[in-house]
Amino acid sequence: MAHHVDWKDEYDLGMPIIDTQHKHFLELMNQAYDAFYNKQTDEELAVLIENLKNYALLHFGTEEKYFDLFNYENKEEHVKKHLELKGKLMILMKEFQVKGGDMIPELIDFLEDWLVVHLNYEDKKYVRCFKEHGL
Ligand SMILES: [Fe+2]
Ligand SMILES: [Fe+2]
Repeated sequence: MAHHVDWKDEYDLGMPIIDTQHKHFLELMNQAYDAFYNKQTDEELAVLIENLKNYALLHFGTEEKYFDLFNYENKEEHVKKHLELKGKLMILMKEFQVKGGDMIPELIDFLEDWLVVHLNYEDKKYVRCFKEHGL
């Protein structure tokens, strides 16, 4: 059974700029998993994983831009969490280069965890600040 991570209302932060990015990230995750499930080649999977990584970096960049702009009080801690996620993602991507598609479930599990846990415990903390600044 193909593995699908569904969007839940509780993931909505009420800020379209951010919510749209989180949703798109989830879509890219599901795409990568579908590709794995449909036995796409490692080359094809590599492209999807690369897209995911680039989108994650773009998304972190968006959040961090607002941290600076709004002088977010929890900025340092949050940026540190982003760095940890990036580091772990790079390690898993290197493993993917060696082991190929077999790595996809582990990679997607990690990304799913990241989306749900990071969004619920870290991203939710900036909602008040971002909204106060009109986002
Ligand atoms: Fe974040
Ligand atoms: Fe986020």
